[in-house]
This record gives sequence, C-alpha cells and structure tokens, in this order.
Amino acid sequence: MTPPRPHAPTPILPYARQQVNEEDIAAVVAVLRSDWLTCGPAVETFEAALAETCGAQHAIAVSNGTAALHLAMLAAGVGPGDRVLTSPNTFAASANCAAYVGAMPDFADIDPATRNLSPGLLAEQWRKDVRAVVAVDFAGYPCDLPRIAEVARANGAVVIEDAAHALGTQFFAQGNWHTVGGHPWADLTTLSFHPVKTITTGEGGAILTNNDALAARCRLLRSHGITKDPSQFLTSELCPLTSEKGPWYYEMQELGYNYRITDIQCALGISQLKRLPAWVARRQEIVDRYNSAFTGLPYVRTPPRADRAVDGFGPTKPSWHLYALEIDFAAMGTTRTAIMQTLRAQGVASQVHYIPVHLQPYYRRRYSYAPGKCPAAEAYYARTLSLPLFASLSDQEVDRVIDAIVGLTTGNQKRC
Ligand SMILES: Cc1ncc(COP(=O)(O)O)c(C=O)c1O
Repeated sequence: MTPPRPHAPTPILPYARQQVNEEDIAAVVAVLRSDWLTCGPAVETFEAALAETCGAQHAIAVSNGTAALHLAMLAAGVGPGDRVLTSPNTFAASANCAAYVGAMPDFADIDPATRNLSPGLLAEQWRKDVRAVVAVDFAGYPCDLPRIAEVARANGAVVIEDAAHALGTQFFAQGNWHTVGGHPWADLTTLSFHPVKTITTGEGGAILTNNDALAARCRLLRSHGITKDPSQFLTSELCPLTSEKGPWYYEMQELGYNYRITDIQCALGISQLKRLPAWVARRQEIVDRYNSAFTGLPYVRTPPRADRAVDGFGPTKPSWHLYALEIDFAAMGTTRTAIMQTLRAQGVASQVHYIPVHLQPYYRRRYSYAPGKCPAAEAYYARTLSLPLFASLSDQEVDRVIDAIVGLTTGNQKRC
C-alpha cells in the first residue's frame, strides 16, 4: 500500500505582492534590445501616461518615492530654519525629506477616523516657521486636502501630497470628483512604484504638479542641476571659459542629484499602468469583502468607509494600498505577535503600518520627540495589523483571511 501523500504546506499569503505578466516582460525586453536604457523615450512616454492618468499637467519620473519627496522639498524651496509638518502614521521618508534639506521635520496628530492628518489639529499645532505640509494618503485613503490646503495656504505654506499609497485614488469635494495628483489642493504630489505599491517599476517614483516652474525645477534637480536646453542657459559672466555654446554645451546651474529612472523601469511602468483601473477595482472589491465580514466583530474596527463622508470629507474611491484592520489585542487578552503567529500558521502573513515616525530612535535622539506627542497615532499603532491585499488575491484566498480573523476574534476556528 502506498503511504498517504503528505499535505502540501499551504502557501503563505503575503500582505502585498506585485503582478508581472508576459506583456510587462516583453515591454522590458524590447527596451533592453533598443538603443536607450536610460534618458530615452520610455521615460517620456511613462511621464505622459502618468500625467494623463492623474490629470496632472506635469509628471517627472524619478528613481524612487523618497527621491520624489526630496525633489519636492527642494523645488518648493524648503530649507534650514523651516519646519515641515507631516503625519506620524507613515513611512520614515515622508519626514526624512525635510531633514535632507536641513528643515525640521515635525508631526501633527492623525484623525483616528481616517488615520490621516487631522486638518483641525494641523491648524491647532501650526507654528510660524511651518513652510510645508506633507500630507500622506495613508493606505490609499485620501487626506482632506481642501481643508489641509486652506490651513497651509492661509499661512503661506506649500502642500506636498505624499501619495505613495494612493495612485488612482479619487475623492469628492466641492461638487466634483477629483483624482490624486490632478486636483488643485496640492502643489506637488509624490508617488512610489516600489513592488508593494499599486503599480511597480521595481524601484521608482514620480512627482506630479500643475505648476510649470515647480516642474522645471524638479527636472533640473533630478539630473545634477544640469540643463542642455539653450533657452535656459545663464548669462555669460557665469558661464565656463567660452562664449561659444556649441552642440556639446551644457550648464550645471544648481547642486542637483542623479535621481533618474531608467527606460527599463519605465517600460514596466507603462505596461503596468494599463492595468491600474482593473487593479484598483479589484482592491476595492476585496476591501468591501473584508469590511462586510469584519464589521460588527468583537475587538475589531475596520478602515474608514469610502461610500460616505468621514468627518465631513468624501465620499472617496481609494485605490487601497493597504488593508489595515484595528484589533484591540489587549482586550482580547493576547498580543499582536501571538496573533501574527497564529495567522501565519493558517497561511496568512500580516504586517504593521506604521510605528509612529516621531518615536523612531533617530527622531527621539535628534529632535527630542517623546511618547505622548501624537496620542492618536500612538493608540492607532498599538492596534493596527495589515492583512493581505493585492489585486491577484482570489476570492478563496480572501475567504481564508476572513476565516482566520473571524476565528481569532470570536473564538471559532471556522465561520459557520
Ligand atoms: C508613504 C510613503 N512615502 C514614501 C515612501 C518612499 O517610497 P520609496 O520606497 O519608493 O522610496 C514610501 C515607501 O514605502 C511610503 O510608504
């Protein structure tokens, strides 16, 4: 008698996963066979496609989302002596970009209902030296940009929307639907195309803006502050050695960086962008399934509802980068670590977004920030757990996640 076959182990569902198909691969291979691996036509085509998708006048593609934030700060003229207010509920880059330019990163607390910067608290915590606000659309759910812009602009500050999570997000405001990257309440919007994001280029990012001068500055600083465009050349006394400006001539006018993205990456981005609407729709579908299953469960709180206004803002159509469920681990008599281990044993990986940035050792040491500075973000951090969310999740896989969470919070191993 043949012994029974051992069960194949259940593959672990990650919290996020990229989707790369044969069309993507063919697009990348075509660039590899072409003359341009970088600074070529795929970069321009990707930028045009991004600008069109978001309804922005300019898109500047760069090497990653952090570079996009750094360039946004530089373009906006933020520097030493300035303060930048951002959300503590974000990845470190949203605040680090202020430190890169010698400004002081500071944090206003979140609204527990949206997990985003609270416009009311932003106004309360405003200081005279605030020069920019970095508004982070956490998990893809949009910030109340109209109210944030009202506070910032009344005080002469620039609004930078960190939309690393929110490519494809839309929101309703002042009688119309608006797309992240194309609305009038952010001066500059930044994106990331890291593989966990909605579309990927491996590493990559972009800046979107409707402001010609800001766009030109981002382009200049993306590539060493160098221009080859004769219309931008400076007057002769600043120019090197010769007044002859032949076809070789270029000028380094500012201290810039190499934040360029390659044509190889942009070919992948162009191909991925075609599937953005379908991916956003699938992410929304999965979030709806999770919300229906988890609403009313003991110990849990679901993300903000998209189909209605939350705190006077919305409705919204988030592209949902993350599904961050809030669980009262302490009231359940357990810990987040134990829950994560139990979920993993059932083939479900989870993650935590985010440890409040002001409590990271660098921020505590360098700026003396301490627990209690942003109580809502700190309370949220104690409860949050991100569950698998990506467009290729099947309905059966979604059910596996639902069964695991329902089992944990109600004490039943399986749903009836
Ligand atoms: C909110 C937020 N901003 C900025 C970034 C930085 O993007 P990148 O990793 O492409 O540098 C990330 C990356 O995870 C992010 O989540």
